[in-house]
Amino acid sequence: MVVVLYSRESEKLGTRLAEELKIKRMTIESKTFPDGESYLRFTEQVTGQDLIVVQSCYPLQDKRLIELFFTLDTAKELGAKTIIAVIPYLPYSRQDKRFRVGEVLSNTTVGKLLKSASADLLVTVDVHQKESLNSYAMHTINVTAMPLIADYLKKLKLSHPFILAPDKGAAANARRVASILETDYDCFEKRRDTVTGQIETSERCLDLVGRDVVILDDVISTGKTIVNVSRIAAKSGAGRIIAACTHALLVGDAEVKMKEGGVTDIVGTDTVDSFASRISVAPAIAESLRQFL
Ligand code: R5P
Repeated sequence: MVVVLYSRESEKLGTRLAEELKIKRMTIESKTFPDGESYLRFTEQVTGQDLIVVQSCYPLQDKRLIELFFTLDTAKELGAKTIIAVIPYLPYSRQDKRFRVGEVLSNTTVGKLLKSASADLLVTVDVHQKESLNSYAMHTINVTAMPLIADYLKKLKLSHPFILAPDKGAAANARRVASILETDYDCFEKRRDTVTGQIETSERCLDLVGRDVVILDDVISTGKTIVNVSRIAAKSGAGRIIAACTHALLVGDAEVKMKEGGVTDIVGTDTVDSFASRISVAPAIAESLRQFL
């Protein structure tokens, strides 16, 4: 039997996924000790079962990761047959290379730990760079939320929409969404100072008068990347400015900064549970898993 097992933090997405797949679901009991350590307990038998373990590792990502490793390792020890790790937001995937000498390759280490914790397959959503999964010693599937985001944008009845990618890495997604919306797109150039983290976006004139703009990225963290582009879009005459992404981490005062920078609406998916989680990625994840049922 195939079962979806999810943590408390990934309950909404785990439930939606089990409903999409029409299979049984289980939760894992959890609590945090006063010193911060995690306690987890399986409340049902998993011996002989094929498990789909759902744990989206958005902040607090380290706690979520360690709880995921505990869960996977214990599931195997308790006799689960196969284990699919569904990590919709895969942390550390942006640290997939050494930008400065001596940097830790966190992405590679996460892959090694997942393997040693007995994951047979990893399913994630819009990982920062697909190539970052090459260092994972297991089969991996990267699902995209872009068609779902495009469908959601269609419902907003945008006026002559224009899709803007804040950097080259986001261009393929912008092209894809623009093609579904049958509209055009453009891509900016962004430079990030690897020491200070400061971002610079090269300014360019665009004619956006009478057009609603969607700034599309894989992740919105501090919101600085979006603010830079939003300011340019506003100066270029844009109407509504929608910040859309798969993973709306929205760290600290990101929402306030984006609104001050001219963003009228923030749209994300349920890979992160927040006010911006307007779109569920469950149908896309379910589609990728049907071949294993
Ligand atoms: C990096 O290139 C990513 O695609 C995002 O653009 C970046 O993580 C967004 O970060 P922030 O919201 O802090 O500017």
